[in-house]
Amino acid sequence: MLVLLVSDLHMPERSPNVPKKFRELLVPGKIQHVLCSGNLTSRTSLDFLRNIAGDVHVVRGDCDRSETSWPDEKVVRIGNLSIGMIHGHQVFPNNSQKALEAVRRSLQVDILVHGSTHEQKVDEIDGNLFINPGSLTGASTSSGDKCQPAFALLDINGSACTLYRYKLGSDNKVDVQPLEFKKRCPAA
Ligand SMILES: *[C@@H]1O[C@H](CO)[C@@H](O)[C@H](O)[C@H]1NC(C)=O
Ligand SMILES: *[C@@H]1O[C@H](CO)[C@@H](O)[C@H](O)[C@H]1NC(C)=O
Ligand SMILES: *[C@@H]1O[C@H](CO)[C@@H](O)[C@H](O)[C@H]1NC(C)=O
Ligand SMILES: *[C@@H]1O[C@H](CO)[C@@H](O)[C@H](O)[C@H]1NC(C)=O
Repeated sequence: MLVLLVSDLHMPERSPNVPKKFRELLVPGKIQHVLCSGNLTSRTSLDFLRNIAGDVHVVRGDCDRSETSWPDEKVVRIGNLSIGMIHGHQVFPNNSQKALEAVRRSLQVDILVHGSTHEQKVDEIDGNLFINPGSLTGASTSSGDKCQPAFALLDINGSACTLYRYKLGSDNKVDVQPLEFKKRCPAA
């Protein structure tokens, strides 16, 4: 079961398209689910994701305000893993692990997918996984900083998964780093 994790596309106003190297990988019919943690900023982004897989879940970023049908947070269950999604602008202070852990606990999920910083970041803490997939388009941040295009792919089998972290280098080469994760069984 393949699950694509993306965030912060900001298409088309900050980035005209998803990098070609990524578009070649993200072809229809290979991936079953897409989870997007916000700031798509347009229907163009959503259409791109819908073309990849039939099952697309999005949460609203602070720039997606007009999309009132999108929730601020969402929990999906795939295999035997529960995955929470949040954009992250609601989390204060920004990017603080303590604040993200509080969100994870309130959603009662094994994995929390967030976004908003445009920087890929993955942490396994106390048996739970925190994933910021980065910006799929490498869109610059609100302060104008350049970003490396990135996304993540989860291959889920029951209570275990492999997370593949994709990044596009300045040499236009795709770097992939795997990480194994297994849900901890609750203490008997
Ligand atoms: C699903 O996860 C729970 C722990 O949350 C575990 O007790 C159960 O055995 C798992 N089921 C399967 C089918 O892996
Ligand atoms: C936190 O995020 C908000 C919303 O994106 C931003 O306005 C603010 O500058 C950020 N603060 C820090 C300390 O990064
Ligand atoms: C979402 O996009 C808006 C508009 O580009 C930006 O101002 C905001 O900082 C982004 N959100 C976060 C949390 O980065
Ligand atoms: C999925 O996990 C089960 C149990 O851990 C294992 O026997 C099986 O080979 C795995 N399937 C795949 C496709 O990796």
